[in-house]
Amino acid sequence: MRLPRLVPKDPPPGPARPDFWRSPVRGPWLTAMLGIVLLIGFPIVFVTGVLSHAAYMPQLGNNDVLPRDLDLQFITFDWPTNPVWLYALNQGAHVTIGILLVPVLIAKLWSVIPKLFAWPPAPNAAEVLTKLANLLLVGSAFFQLATGIANIQLWYPWQFNFVVAHFYGGWVLIFSILLHVAIRMPKVRAAMRTNKDLKPLRTNLQNTRPEPYEPHGLVSPNPAPATISRRGVVGLVGAASGALLVTTVGQSVGGPLRSLAVLAPRGNGIAKDGPNGFPINKTAHVANITSAMVDGTWALQLSADGEELELDRQALLSGKLVPLRTYDLPIACVEGWSTTQSWTGVRLSDLSRLVGADPGHVLHVESLQPRGAFRQTTLSKNQAHADRSLLALRVNGVDLSMDHGFPARIIVPALPGVHCTKWVSGLEWSHA
Ligand code: HEM
Repeated sequence: MRLPRLVPKDPPPGPARPDFWRSPVRGPWLTAMLGIVLLIGFPIVFVTGVLSHAAYMPQLGNNDVLPRDLDLQFITFDWPTNPVWLYALNQGAHVTIGILLVPVLIAKLWSVIPKLFAWPPAPNAAEVLTKLANLLLVGSAFFQLATGIANIQLWYPWQFNFVVAHFYGGWVLIFSILLHVAIRMPKVRAAMRTNKDLKPLRTNLQNTRPEPYEPHGLVSPNPAPATISRRGVVGLVGAASGALLVTTVGQSVGGPLRSLAVLAPRGNGIAKDGPNGFPINKTAHVANITSAMVDGTWALQLSADGEELELDRQALLSGKLVPLRTYDLPIACVEGWSTTQSWTGVRLSDLSRLVGADPGHVLHVESLQPRGAFRQTTLSKNQAHADRSLLALRVNGVDLSMDHGFPARIIVPALPGVHCTKWVSGLEWSHA
């Protein structure tokens, strides 16, 4: 359906004129190429995001990663405790791949920018809908990347709840991508066929030629001489993503790359000052934990089906009631960083037996934190009874520091760091 003409027939001078855009490398092939990279990357980031949400096990007791009434719990299941590095891998991939996509998205937008100014702006209803779909796609892509990066840089220039907005923003983005692909796939295929797939990656600058001109397309009607080849553009984008990779991924994979992770918000995770020198998400000060709350009077409250027991730190450390165990386990943050440390403490399953609880019980964990998120969390049956699920009292051979959760903290394999509750005050096993 043609819409009534609201704008002059001829485009005004400037970006609305096709000959304003003169780059000879702009065209369906480059756009399709960048699009294919985004089409591979964004779903991986989306799936790891949804899995991050599932890892919180929002269906259990006190676990409210999103406010209950806002959590439609699309995907929930029993998050495993094996392999121990599962969440570290998931969130490391989420954040790292998300960051790598930034240069690709910017280059993709550069490659299609003439379309943004195409004249007339709204020739027909179909074009209006396509433009609105593109706006939703570009808007949600930038929203996800911008909020994600600001969040991991601990910068919150907004009033809304990050997790809620980022969670649902992810669904909007993935549906916009599906719509976009449905509309554009025929063009992508044609572009790949015309250019014999990757041939432009073997074409040097001297042989770089504009693609065939199509009215209202991406190719310039009046291209300038080439100053960069298409493979040069792909190389530049690849180099930018590569630089981001080298300066970020070390926070997740560790090893020699860790010292290069200069963009890692919490430092590169190399233990600087002593056994407690590894990264911290929330300090005791931020959590309103004072030394008076954790001094010698602290005792752990255990309970199950009316059975109660109180144990102080000495009793736990004595190893008489339940044996002390030491395991090397990762602590993996939602922000993507993770580090493996040597934790010593008592098994949650051993403690459960002191109050007559059994593997059919879930575990509600209470923290000394007077208020704030993750003050109370719930561990599933398999998490509460897994062999290496610990109430940790020491790390790397010394007492936990207050910032790492002294007098005691939860360490469960493959669990998001925020659910490895610090400053534990109570453990309650129950059937729900
Ligand atoms: C640079 C890019 C990105 C960064 C740094 C980033 C960062 C994060 C962080 C830190 C979380 C954990 C939130 C929390 O549990 O507190 C998260 C969760 C999530 N992200 Fe991203 N993200 C990025 C891109 C994306 C994109 C592109 C999508 C969608 C396609 C996405 C979808 C999600 C989803 C669905 C969650 C789960 C939120 C929840 O637990 O409720 N993210 N992201």
